[in-house]
This record gives sequence, structure tokens and C-alpha cells, in this order.
Amino acid sequence: MFARLKEDIGCVFERDPAARTAFEVVTTYPGLHAVMMHRLAHRLWLRDFKWLARLLSNVARLFTGIEIHPGAVIGRRFFIDHGMGVVIGETAVIGDDCTLYHGVTLGGTTWQKGKRHPTLGRDVVVGAGAKVLGPIEIGDGARIGSNAVVVKSVPAGATAVGVPGRIIEPARDATAQRRADTARRIGFDAYGATRDAPDPVANAINSMLDHIHHMDGRMEVMSRALEQHGIMHHFEHDSDLDSMAIEEAAHPDLPQSDSLKKSRA
Ligand SMILES: CC(C)(COP(=O)(O)OP(=O)(O)OC[C@H]1O[C@@H](n2cnc3c(N)ncnc32)[C@H](O)[C@@H]1OP(=O)(O)O)[C@@H](O)C(=O)NCCC(=O)NCCS
Repeated sequence: MFARLKEDIGCVFERDPAARTAFEVVTTYPGLHAVMMHRLAHRLWLRDFKWLARLLSNVARLFTGIEIHPGAVIGRRFFIDHGMGVVIGETAVIGDDCTLYHGVTLGGTTWQKGKRHPTLGRDVVVGAGAKVLGPIEIGDGARIGSNAVVVKSVPAGATAVGVPGRIIEPARDATAQRRADTARRIGFDAYGATRDAPDPVANAINSMLDHIHHMDGRMEVMSRALEQHGIMHHFEHDSDLDSMAIEEAAHPDLPQSDSLKKSRA
């Protein structure tokens, strides 16, 4: 449970540049409080303490302004930024690493029982005020623009905006998706830096990302071989690397990150 809590706190730092300390996050982020209480309410729901689960979810709503039905299935590292006005329905399913902003509704369009709320894949971002309605699927890595009303499924990696939601950016191809994954893992902003563009800096970054991906693969093979021979334990990717300082190097007048200051001290 504490490992999950640590993950939930960690993902706040990854996705909200305003977050300063773990204490501040634990005490002042309603999105985190709502998710923590939902995890408890969901357990009660699964153990058939349905009324207690709904009571707890209502208490969470009272304190946070975020309404998550205890039946909703929510993956790891889920982050609701700001939070007020978020509604997540009973049969909604949310994959790992998803982010919602305030005013988002994952709602239904029918009064029939059964699956009536959306299913979000992994790493989906839903912008402030967006409504995602019906038993539709939002694919891995998809983005929903602020105030969009999405009533049809969105493919993986695509971006949907507007009312009704329309796809403005098609799904990434496998190479672009791999670069985005590598960029996110090492702390680059995958929105700007990894798009295919006729920009020499972006091309250089893309080459570096490909190179890192290739080296990761080789390290993985070597680590498994060493583990098989009892020389060392297998290691996992470290996703907690400080973000790169490429912007600061390009703009010396900008304030420097703590990590850069430390490395130069
Ligand atoms: C507007 C609404 C009543 C329409 O329901 P419907 O008659 O079953 O409509 P359909 O799903 O058949 O869609 C018909 C068309 O309207 C569009 N559409 C559906 N809902 C829309 C909405 N909210 N805004 C804009 N367009 C909408 C669909 O894209 C579709 O367009 P198309 O014909 O070009 O493909 C319903 O989609 C809706 O928004 N209900 C509110 C649900 C809600 O608020 N839930 C919250 C629960 S917490």
C-alpha cells in the first residue's frame, strides 16, 4: 500500500512543476487525496461493503470536489491535477499513468446498467473540462483536449479536440511512439522534443533517443546474461532520472533547475 502511495506521490512531481515537497503534496493535493480514498473505497466495493464504499467516496467528494464511483477501476500512478468537478463513473476503467485535469467527466450516455463509461488505456491525458462519454475506448497515449466532448473511441497516440471530439493528430507510428517512450523515461518533454520536425535540434534529440533506446536494449541483454551467471542481480530501468537541462543550456538567462545547480556546484 505504501509503495503505491509513494508511486502516486512520485507521479505528482513528474506531472506538476508546481509541486515542491512530498509533505506539501500529501497535505495539499486533493487529486492525491481522492485517489487514496478511492483505492480504499474500491477495496470495500470489491469485498461487497457497497454502502460503506459509496459513503467513503461521498466523503472524498465532500473534501476534494472529485467524485469517483468506488466501482471504477483505476491503474497505477493516476494523477488528477486541481481536481474540482471531476466525475468518474462506475464502469470506467483507467489504465496506468493517466492524467486528468479539473472538470473532466468520464460519464455515461445511457441509463441502462452494464458497461456505460469509457475505458482509458495507458498514459492518456484528458484536458480540463473535457467530457468523455459512453462505453468508448481511448487508446494508449491518446490526448483529449480541454473542453472536448468525446463520444467516439480515440485510437492510441491520437489527439482529439472540439465538440464533438475530432482527431487532429493521428496515432504515432511505432518509431515515434518508441522515441516518446524513451524521452519520457529519461525526463524529456515528449510533447515538444520528440515530434518529427525538420528542425536540426529535434533531429539531434531524436537520434540521441534512438541511440539511448539501442543502448538500453544491449544493457538489458548484458544484465540478463550477468544475472544468469550469478554475477549480479537484474536491474530495472531507472525512471527517476532528473530531467535534462537542454533548455537551460540554450538559454543561459533562464533560472536553472536544482539538479543543474547541484551538478555545477
Ligand atoms: C447529446 C446526447 C444526448 C446524444 O445522444 P444520442 O442521441 O444517443 O446521440 P448519438 O450518440 O447517436 O450521436 C449523434 C451525433 O451527435 C454527436 N454527439 C453526441 N453527443 C454529443 C455531444 N454531447 N456534443 C456534441 N455532439 C454530440 C455524435 O458525435 C453523433 O454525430 P454524427 O452523427 O456526426 O456521428 C448524448 O451524447 C449526451 O451527450 N448525453 C449527455 C450524457 C452526460 O452528460 N453524461 C454525464 C454522466 S456523469
